[in-house]
Amino acid sequence: MKQIEEYVRSIEDFPEEGIIFRDVTSVLQDADGLHLAIDLMQEKLKELDFDIVVGPESRGFIFGVPIAYNLHKPFVPIRKKGKLPCETIGIKYDLEYGSAELEMHRDAIKPGQKVVIIDDLIATGGTNEAMVKLVEGLGGVVVKAVFLMELAGLKGRERLKGYDVESVICYP
Ligand code: PRP
Ligand code: ADE
Repeated sequence: MKQIEEYVRSIEDFPEEGIIFRDVTSVLQDADGLHLAIDLMQEKLKELDFDIVVGPESRGFIFGVPIAYNLHKPFVPIRKKGKLPCETIGIKYDLEYGSAELEMHRDAIKPGQKVVIIDDLIATGGTNEAMVKLVEGLGGVVVKAVFLMELAGLKGRERLKGYDVESVICYP
């Protein structure tokens, strides 16, 4: 049985010079890789008391939905600006390369609900910090954030001090 790290393909200088892109598609396109990734992420939620899984478009959906399904929790999508049809709360943020704007439906989280954030990767932590602000903006409580991959050199964790953040694979 291969280790989860062995399923991740790394591409230098994509999408820009100087970036090492950690490609999640090479994990997904192998049935064992996909199973292992979901199982190892889900393992981090063992015995955790929570109400909702939240995940960002688009790679956060890939892992957030099966984990929510397996644990019989609802899934709330955080989408890129302009995609959600009802009343939203939104936020702008910066990424390792570029910037973006995310939105969530205002009725998706009720005050006091316990939220787990799921995504494929934490780099600068900008996306995760933005998601935390959206959840908290609606009165939700972020009880944990779980990532398949962490790019530790970009210090995303430092933006999330005081939160429970776990990753399956940590790159220096
Ligand atoms: C990627 C990745 C994370 C985010 C991490 O998503 O899936 O959500 O970047 O970067 P950060 O920690 O610096 O914020 P991206 O915005 O590229 O969108 P995608 O999932 O649609 O590819
Ligand atoms: N998202 C942000 N930085 C990334 C990286 N280096 N590899 C894959 N996805 C990313």
